[in-house]
Amino acid sequence: MPQGFRAEILSVPHDPLHAGAEAVRHDADGLLVVENGIVAARGPYDALIERFPGLDVEDCRGRLMVPGFVDTHIHYPQTERIAAYGLQLLGWLDEHIFPAERAFADVAHARDVSDFFLGELLRHGTTSALVFATVHATSVDALFEAAVSRNMRIASGKVLMDLGPEGLRDTPETGRSETEALIARWHGKGRLTYAVTPRFALTSSDEQLAVAGDLLAAHPDTLLHTHMSENVDEIAAVLGRFPQASDYLDVYDRFGLVGRRSIFAHGIHLSDRECCRLHDSGAGIALCPTSNLFLGSGLFDLARLDAHGVKLGMGSDVGAGTSLSMLATMGEAYKVCQLRGHPLDPFRALHLATAGGAAMLGMGAQVGSLSEGQEADFLLLDHAATPLSARRCAGLPLADRLFAMQILGDDRFVARTYIAGALAHDRDAVKVRP
Ligand code: GUN
Ligand code: ZN
Repeated sequence: MPQGFRAEILSVPHDPLHAGAEAVRHDADGLLVVENGIVAARGPYDALIERFPGLDVEDCRGRLMVPGFVDTHIHYPQTERIAAYGLQLLGWLDEHIFPAERAFADVAHARDVSDFFLGELLRHGTTSALVFATVHATSVDALFEAAVSRNMRIASGKVLMDLGPEGLRDTPETGRSETEALIARWHGKGRLTYAVTPRFALTSSDEQLAVAGDLLAAHPDTLLHTHMSENVDEIAAVLGRFPQASDYLDVYDRFGLVGRRSIFAHGIHLSDRECCRLHDSGAGIALCPTSNLFLGSGLFDLARLDAHGVKLGMGSDVGAGTSLSMLATMGEAYKVCQLRGHPLDPFRALHLATAGGAAMLGMGAQVGSLSEGQEADFLLLDHAATPLSARRCAGLPLADRLFAMQILGDDRFVARTYIAGALAHDRDAVKVRP
């Protein structure tokens, strides 16, 4: 039986930078019709309802329906280490993150954190994500099992790090065999995608980076997920280790890791050559503003990335990121852009956090736009979630309301989250714990 949802509906299927107002699809009084988890129809309520006599319609007026958020870079094993004081990237990894990741040798711990993590994503309105696990293959099993049980569209992979610290090292051989086994077990199952995941250039030997290239060549529909050009000390160490490489991206290129299914987190300190190469290869950058500010890594240069037409998405990068909320992430992206001298259009921010990110993850046909034929992952935003926001947003036109929610917003603004048309989080439901 189809199900209808009546609400103000907004999506930004195309990048407003190129498509202008055509990028935005808005139904002030809209109807979304969902059948078997798929968007069967969408449009103005009055015009569409006649096509569906007797349709069971849930009245969600007063809420803004948007596509589920797509977080293009996040670490689930770092969930419990968010907000760790005092250090920049390399020291922070040693002091706070590697000890936390060692605990994922215990599969019961991995299952517990996976379940909590995915529940938190839904509470924040994130329905799809590209997720770092740990070096332990079982950490990926735990996350994917939890994603299957929630029917979420998740991409992840075992971290390759044969030069990692004590207790978090694999080898080129085990990295290869465990990745092959995980791809066979999970890739393409339900809504899951496998991502070949070398942590970053510094934690893999040349031999293991070559293994990552082999794995990608053998499985060209998997993703490549890693970090690049985040912190100046990191970059100096990379260039010191690979003196023959022209820059950081070139290190990855030499091992066959740069292509249209590659996602590099951060990309703060890039040269023009790297931006050109990113564009030419079709690789994408996950912009992670809350992380970059928290670790003092720097300010990404959106105007420069745009000048080269680099594919982009938004990432929370929790645990270096300071919020799981993509609303908060959009707000911090706006501030980074302001520090660079230009504002970030709120519709563009929403595009990057939904359809743009989905396209970068190769999921653009399935999610991100709430278009007919897409999977019905969506949320209902409540601009009156706080007394201050209620006052600020009262009577505001859409663009200003959307912007206010990006600046003031967080999980409180997500009234409901739906996965494939099924209610997956209800902020206002009375919680009864057994
Ligand atoms: N570079 C290598 N590992 C990490 C990580 O876990 N977080 C961030 N932000 N950068 C990294
Ligand atoms: Zn990261």
